[in-house]
Amino acid sequence: MMDGKPGPVVGLAGMIMDVVRDRLIDEMRAVFGPDQRRIAHALAVLEYAERIHAAEGGNAMVVMAAAILHDIGIVEAERKYGSAAGHLQEVEGPPVAGSILGKHLKDPAAVQHVLDIIAHHHNGRYDSKEFHILRDADAIVNIGDEMGGCGRAKLARVIDKSIVTAEGRRIAAHRYLNEPLQ
Ligand SMILES: [Fe+2]
Repeated sequence: MMDGKPGPVVGLAGMIMDVVRDRLIDEMRAVFGPDQRRIAHALAVLEYAERIHAAEGGNAMVVMAAAILHDIGIVEAERKYGSAAGHLQEVEGPPVAGSILGKHLKDPAAVQHVLDIIAHHHNGRYDSKEFHILRDADAIVNIGDEMGGCGRAKLARVIDKSIVTAEGRRIAAHRYLNEPLQ
């Protein structure tokens, strides 16, 4: 629910979520332009973040917006410094995300929460349920992209170290360790 309980967001709240999600995806696509790899990454992180949220709860709008926009600072970081380093994205992301969110989200506290998540998603120095959901979803996607050739023991160690939510661990163990989704 939008108010933080586990489960899918239904009814009017779900309809509002669907509209905002579509608008934020359009904005993200516009910033990334022809970069299909980054668009696909954001959409994959969104899918996992919403799955984790459905089990773990938290603010659904914050989780959704943070997932779509978490890497939005890459373009400015590359333009200004010629680098997509994590700490540069964390500096450049919030202003870009803030101008987008200001158009589509009504709740200033939710906007600030999304910006805080974006500003810390590489360094990990932040603590909220929504933050851990975004970090876990990003890790699940990145493990697949970056560790395809690794053995089971190594994958298990990385999952254990980098993924903190129960649902994130369950999804990662299913996807990378072939454990059943029970
Ligand atoms: Fe990411």
